[in-house]
Amino acid sequence: MVEKKIIIAIDGFSSTGKSTIAKHLAAELNYLYVDTGAMYRAITYYAMQQKFVGPDFFDTDALINELNNISLEFVYNSELKFSEMCLNGVNVEREIRTIEVSKLVSKVSAISEVRKKLVEQQQTMGTKRGLVMDGRDIGTVVFPEAELKLFMTASPEKRATRRYKELLDRGHKVNYDEVLENVQQRDLIDSTREDSPLIKAKDAVEFDNSDMGLKEQFERVYNLALLTISKL
Ligand code: DC
Repeated sequence: MVEKKIIIAIDGFSSTGKSTIAKHLAAELNYLYVDTGAMYRAITYYAMQQKFVGPDFFDTDALINELNNISLEFVYNSELKFSEMCLNGVNVEREIRTIEVSKLVSKVSAISEVRKKLVEQQQTMGTKRGLVMDGRDIGTVVFPEAELKLFMTASPEKRATRRYKELLDRGHKVNYDEVLENVQQRDLIDSTREDSPLIKAKDAVEFDNSDMGLKEQFERVYNLALLTISKL
């Protein structure tokens, strides 16, 4: 019997642990994992390098005109067992995770032309199904027909604490208040933008993981995935 493969869409606020769960799930099911936030971050990083965007300026037309010259690709790192983001052939995995990129990425991802380009690319990745994709609009816009949709939430303070530790572990110099402010700022912009705002799809299962350990979360999500596959 050919095993049926599904699409699992994981949406939610920033730093809710979407990518950790998504990665585990994909590894366990032998599915492809796609972190769409990395794609928006890479475009933002490119725009910063070209001086299209900065803390107090944004030349949206210049960025839109350049979109055809931006190529994004996930390249699998077999040592880390993780796909890293390459921007025009250069690995930018570390550069796209800085607080400077985090501060500008919501502005860049509010641009419809940017979203159109990335959504098309994301939809192509799902043609063979067998995919776990995380982001903000996966269950609502990219794959509204996904067989399983999850929506992750947690308190801003819990999320800021997680992100703060993550950044320190990676050797970035940040302070907690700056990270908390960024988390709250991004929540606001991501959920109030006109094009594809972050909202829970009607048929998504909501997970508030403020007080849930990783193991418990994973077990719940994994069981849901198995149940969904068994019903096909
Ligand atoms: O998942 P992340 O925190 O790395 O995402 C970075 C930003 O990218 C997020 O604040 C909003 C944007 N984003 C988006 O608009 N749509 C997606 N599908 C994924 C991310």
